Amino acid sequence: MKFGLWHLSFHFMPKFLQQKKGAKTKKKAKTLLQSPKGMHDILPEEQPLFLKIRQVGEKIADIYNFSKIDTPILEQKAIFERAVGEATDIVQKQMFTIKSRGDSQLVLRPEGTASVMRAYLQHGLAHLPHPLKLFYEGPMFRYEQPQAGRYRQFYQTGFEIIGTEDPIYDAQIILLAKNFLEELKLKKINIQINSIGCNVCREKYKEKLLAYYKGKQNRLCADCRKRLVINPLRILDCKNPHCEVFKKDAPVMLDNLCSNCKTHFKEVLEYLDEASLIYNINFHLVRGLDYYNKTVFEISSDEFDFALGGGGRYDYLSQMLGGPKVPAVGISLGIERLVEAMKIKNLEGIVVRKPKVFLIQLGSQAKKKSIKILKELYEAGIKTAEALDKDSLRVQLKAADKSGADFALILGQREVLDESIILRDMRTGVQENIAINKIVEEIKKRK
Ligand code: HAM
Repeated sequence: MKFGLWHLSFHFMPKFLQQKKGAKTKKKAKTLLQSPKGMHDILPEEQPLFLKIRQVGEKIADIYNFSKIDTPILEQKAIFERAVGEATDIVQKQMFTIKSRGDSQLVLRPEGTASVMRAYLQHGLAHLPHPLKLFYEGPMFRYEQPQAGRYRQFYQTGFEIIGTEDPIYDAQIILLAKNFLEELKLKKINIQINSIGCNVCREKYKEKLLAYYKGKQNRLCADCRKRLVINPLRILDCKNPHCEVFKKDAPVMLDNLCSNCKTHFKEVLEYLDEASLIYNINFHLVRGLDYYNKTVFEISSDEFDFALGGGGRYDYLSQMLGGPKVPAVGISLGIERLVEAMKIKNLEGIVVRKPKVFLIQLGSQAKKKSIKILKELYEAGIKTAEALDKDSLRVQLKAADKSGADFALILGQREVLDESIILRDMRTGVQENIAINKIVEEIKKRK
């Protein structure tokens, strides 16, 4: 009985107390945890490329007069179900859903356009001068099979022009995207464009498409068989060779546009011609999000396999979200893809400024004074590096050399007593003694 009790209590003891006396503790090495699959760190060495893209984005936004908008990373699931479409891959397979305490189901946003329109409606931005141009930059999330250029967390920069039906803005958005890529020095830009009509002519076209595929279902891939039922237009997008063969004789949306959509598309192309922009009409471009109508486009470079950006007109999105009719057009560019394209072409990111000064301190008094000197240098806007946790002169001089700083300031015990400091030109090795209260003035004098 006694034994039984002991036995029972042993099992209820916390694990760390269960060790038998005298037994050696075996330490199990902890596994090194990794970032989630398809989600990556952007390390310091990659930041200049990301920063360059952000800088170009801000420049383009400024020139074209876009205002910045930030929306939450979490949104209600219903927004994308309504906007992107319940039958799309994004909503069916790719959303990260968060179980929250309330009733509403939240998701990590898979794209930005629906959020921008949600914010526009929620905050009554209709009172602002129109067309309203908004841009954003931030992480998006899609549960995809990761591969080069395809991640589960990726960054997009997007430009949306809200409150206009005028085809000149479809052309302006495309032109803006081309300018963006050119600013990054990406070449051989390829613009694919199509029109998928309005709700009226597209419905009629879908019927024609279904009639064409009738009797061919069994020869299509499994995905396209599903698409025939839920989203027939997407059959045109399929890259499966079994489905490709049927595409060339399939009816074309452009031949089936109503007169309004036809005129709209013709005017977009005329504006693009006027801007001497070269484009390819792609009869099979339909895009994977349900909110589009009329003009759709994708932008890539002939030198890479993946699309760098995509967009189109979305005149019904506001109504899909419960708002009034608000026509709009926009584009998003994938930042990782731009980075990869820039890397392949060895293009430069932002040039990181080297420190002008490296502060070296020797001894406890000098170390103490360093904090005040650094404060003065900061206030004067002088970029300064240091290695305050080191105390050897040799080690600190080596670090100064590595940092690329033009000058080293060397503060030893004697200089502290003299209220002076050594200023060494790292390029020539020439050293001089200057007064400690003249540091900023003396550095500013020198190039
Ligand atoms: P999207 O075509 O789904 O459109 O995405 C735009 C761009 O984001 C793509 O061309 C690609 O560069 C990048 N991208 C998409 N998925 C991934 C991924 N898994 N990994 C890396 N990059 C990716 C939209 O999102 C629409 N909101 C565009 C838009 C704006 N339409 C109107 N306004």
